Amino acid sequence: MRLGRLNHIGVATPSIEASIAHYRDVMGATKIHTPFDLEAQGVKVCFVDTRGENGTNGTQIELIEPLGPDSPLSNFLEKSPLGGQHHVCFEVPDIEAARAEFEAQGKRVLGPTRIGAHGTPIFFVHPKDMGGILTEILETPKEGH
Ligand code: CO
Repeated sequence: MRLGRLNHIGVATPSIEASIAHYRDVMGATKIHTPFDLEAQGVKVCFVDTRGENGTNGTQIELIEPLGPDSPLSNFLEKSPLGGQHHVCFEVPDIEAARAEFEAQGKRVLGPTRIGAHGTPIFFVHPKDMGGILTEILETPKEGH
C-alpha cells in the first residue's frame, strides 16, 4: 500500500444548493463544478475545488446529497440533520493491489470495486477498521482525465 494524495473529503448535506452557496459566499470558493446524479450510489454529487500553492489543484470537497429516501446517505442525515463529514478519499497508484492489501490485513472492504464520481475505480473500507473514518480509496486519475 502506497498512500497517495488526499483526493477529497466527502461532505453529506441535505441541500447541495445551500452548500454551494456556503462554499461560494462564505468560504470564497471560485471553482464549483456542475452537480450530477450518481444513481448507482443513490446520491447527487458536486465537487468544490480548493486551491493549492501556485494555483495547483488542492484537495476537493465532494458534496453529497441523497437522491431519495432509500439512499444510503439518508441514515447519516437522520443522525446528523445539518450534514457533516462523511468520508475521506485517498489516491493510490494501483487500486487492485491496494484492495488486496486491505483484505490481507483483515480490513472490511465494502462491496465491489466500482467506478466512482471521478470516473475512476474506487472502493470503501469500513470505518470500524479505519479508526472511525469511512475511507474511500481511489486510483489516481490519469493525466487529462
Ligand atoms: Co467520495
